[in-house]
Amino acid sequence: MAADKKPLDLSSLVIPQHVAIIMDGNGRWARRRGLPRAAGHRAGAENLRRIINACVEFGIKILTIYAFSTENWGRPEQEIKALMKIFARVLDQEIDDLHAQGVCLHHLGELTGISPSLQEKVRRAIDLTKDNDRLILNVAFNYGGRAEILHAVKHMVADGIEADDLTEELFNSYLFTSGLPDPDMVVRTSGELRISNFLIWQAAYAEYYPTPALWPDFGREELYEAIVAFNQRERRYGVLPE
Ligand code: FPP
Repeated sequence: MAADKKPLDLSSLVIPQHVAIIMDGNGRWARRRGLPRAAGHRAGAENLRRIINACVEFGIKILTIYAFSTENWGRPEQEIKALMKIFARVLDQEIDDLHAQGVCLHHLGELTGISPSLQEKVRRAIDLTKDNDRLILNVAFNYGGRAEILHAVKHMVADGIEADDLTEELFNSYLFTSGLPDPDMVVRTSGELRISNFLIWQAAYAEYYPTPALWPDFGREELYEAIVAFNQRERRYGVLPE
């Protein structure tokens, strides 16, 4: 453990198996420093590395991050380009380390619409890491919850599934998260209190954890505090406590 890492007591905590994060506040982080928005996204990407390390350290098995939504195409072209560049750079520069760390990369969303070279990088990274099982990293990129549901329904119709045969389990198997457990906790940084079309089916019973920290400032200790808060929640799934 690095000398500057604060010791954190995890012994009495239930560790959520699947944590999902809406990484919000990069723009504000940059503005407060008089920097361009892209600098905030770069700081956000660096922070993602810290959070992946913390997830591995804490024993979280699945991390899902909202990196680029179907609605983010409406941002200025320059910002979209910067985000694509950051994603490509992370795939080029970090994938070998992530692979060595036992991270298995999944993509949630549609690859169509993304440049062919970035699509190729994503496919190669997925293939390289497919047998890893220390941490599943779902990157929601060109992802929207409504688009995901429509995508699932279209495929079910194409497969000729009858209404009577439709179950929640079958529906789950058509989502981008097929085969994975639902998120236990959804973190949203930067103080916003919206779901913003993120995992709207899968997070039906997730515990929401909004935090005022801007994404580049949401580090290992802040993730630990989120887990502590998660442990104070009573998960009832609509039934009465025993
Ligand atoms: C929201 O902050 C953040 C995003 C739309 C992009 C998130 C992307 C990263 C953290 C880059 C790294 C991602 C990968 C997959 C390598 P905002 O721009 O809406 O912030 P604001 O609300 O303060 O303007």
